Amino acid sequence: MSRADLDEFVEQVRAQSDLVQVVSSYVALKRKGGRYWGCCPFHQEKTASFSVVPDKGFFYCFGCHAGGNVFKFISLMENVSYFDAIKLQAEKLGIPVPQRRQSPEEQKREQKRKDLRKVNEMAKDFFHNCLTMTRYGEQGKAYLAGRGITSETIEEFQLGFAPNAWDKLCSAFRKRGVRQEYLLAAGLASERQQGEGIYDRFRNRVIIPIADERGRVVAFGGRVLDDGMPKYLNSPETELFNKRRLLFGLDRAHRAIQQEGYAIVVEGYMDAISVFGAGVQNVVASLGTAFTPEHTKLLMRYARRIYFCYDSDDAGQNATIRALAVVRNSGAEVHVIVVPDGKDPDEFIRKHGKEAFQELVKQALPLVEYRLRYVLSHVRYDTLEGKVRALREMLPVLSGIRDGAELGEYRKRLAQTLMLDEGIIMDELRRYARNPLPEEPAAAGKQNFRAAAKKQDNALLRAGRIVLRTIWQDPGILAHVQAVLPDGFPSEVQQEILTYLANCIEKGESLNDIHAVESLGEAASTELSQALVEDSGEQEASVVYEDAIRILRKAYLNSLYMRHSRQSEEYLAAGDPAYRESLREANRIKKEMDEL
Ligand code: UTP
Ligand code: MN
Repeated sequence: MSRADLDEFVEQVRAQSDLVQVVSSYVALKRKGGRYWGCCPFHQEKTASFSVVPDKGFFYCFGCHAGGNVFKFISLMENVSYFDAIKLQAEKLGIPVPQRRQSPEEQKREQKRKDLRKVNEMAKDFFHNCLTMTRYGEQGKAYLAGRGITSETIEEFQLGFAPNAWDKLCSAFRKRGVRQEYLLAAGLASERQQGEGIYDRFRNRVIIPIADERGRVVAFGGRVLDDGMPKYLNSPETELFNKRRLLFGLDRAHRAIQQEGYAIVVEGYMDAISVFGAGVQNVVASLGTAFTPEHTKLLMRYARRIYFCYDSDDAGQNATIRALAVVRNSGAEVHVIVVPDGKDPDEFIRKHGKEAFQELVKQALPLVEYRLRYVLSHVRYDTLEGKVRALREMLPVLSGIRDGAELGEYRKRLAQTLMLDEGIIMDELRRYARNPLPEEPAAAGKQNFRAAAKKQDNALLRAGRIVLRTIWQDPGILAHVQAVLPDGFPSEVQQEILTYLANCIEKGESLNDIHAVESLGEAASTELSQALVEDSGEQEASVVYEDAIRILRKAYLNSLYMRHSRQSEEYLAAGDPAYRESLREANRIKKEMDEL
């Protein structure tokens, strides 16, 4: 498929896509004037700050700043790449997707991945047969039985056993014609340090196949039968296996996650197997790594609610706190299931059964509540210093609460517990909203200065957006902008958009959202959506534009003035008479600024 064919295809899908219709299938929209409003699907909110402007082809959320065109919307909603979103939409509209010809390298890589999958599939069968059909498996069977794992669960998860020998798998696979390099690449074998040849990576361990979301085996975990180290040996990361993007059990759990409306995340695969085996099927495990944003996205394809159920020891609690920070701004609704007295979910459900576990799920704490209890039990808040620390730790969590009543409730509780005035908490929250970075208590003057600088920056940003919007609507105005603002915009992101627009206009291309989103970086493309979706209010467009230009011109002149007056000072210090010329120029600029 050539670039031209691709462009034509994308253009065709775009032309037939109705942004409002697409968004409406996910979000209830209300029309107000030329635009539509609804509650943002990308973060939790109760008042509508999500806006769609159909004639410009863009959406933008004034709350979480998600924005873009119809394909960006689909890609965010469905958690797929931008191009996959175009393909999804094409399929919906019945437009045939042109087939891409693969380069020889791509074909080779694809073949390699296929071969690796095949080898993994064979290894899974090999281990499973060892466990269930050979005498080597006896020890493994006894171990699993001792942990209360039934033969049904063994079948469900295709658990296996690696014999206590150096080359059972290698020699079996050699006989079946599997090349050594594949066993090495799949992480099933290692090269001998001394001498030639390879040997089995997994020996004398119970084997847990690790599958991707579609159920294809990509790696293995092996557990020792005793207290040996390491407790678990995993496949190395390969082309197929990336821990950051994989959740153990998702291939089996996703239907239940969708049905129940939430996913339970546990720490270990044995926890996931045990909980699933007991009949709670919406469970997945992160594989001994921290929970990642990729994991969040994976789960949110199926449900918006995530319940963390980590071990109740200190390590598990700390992992929970880190996970909460990772998911905080994802739009997921997060709860924490607290497993009582030093147990992990596996031990708990084995001892107390499914119903007792479901009772724990019912009593799960909302994120903020859990976080609050954690802070109060880990920070000594009987001193002023401790109170400040506790409050600071809660600020990011509190500022994530969109619901006013709920926020008020927590504010009150925090005030009562810490014995602080509620007004102080409100002040701190407001300060945090302006400047989320933790800062040392600074001199008041410095604070005011920073606030003023920030206000000025915001005014410039708003003005920049108005100018960009005007150029988009009326490209003829570009020449005026370039003449009045020779340095362009002070904001780098807006400058990127301006350069892009100028390029298109110079080449005589018409401005279109697809091309823009594809050509601009992520930040610039979001900024453009905001610029196009923002409302100028009741005022006349030309007045709004004039005001915006004046603000930007003033900022430009100001920087020019600073440059010249600094220059004249340098000349003067060096005894160079050129200082007069610089000073004259600086004064001329000052005059123009005053007249603006
Ligand atoms: P845990 O040590 O909590 O395992 O590690 P567990 O699930 O309670 O194990 P059992 O019940 O004693 O069998 C949690 C996860 O961390 C990873 C594994 O993915 C494990 O499931 N891990 C742990 C390793 O990769 N290697 C190790 O040596 C230990
Ligand atoms: Mn355990």
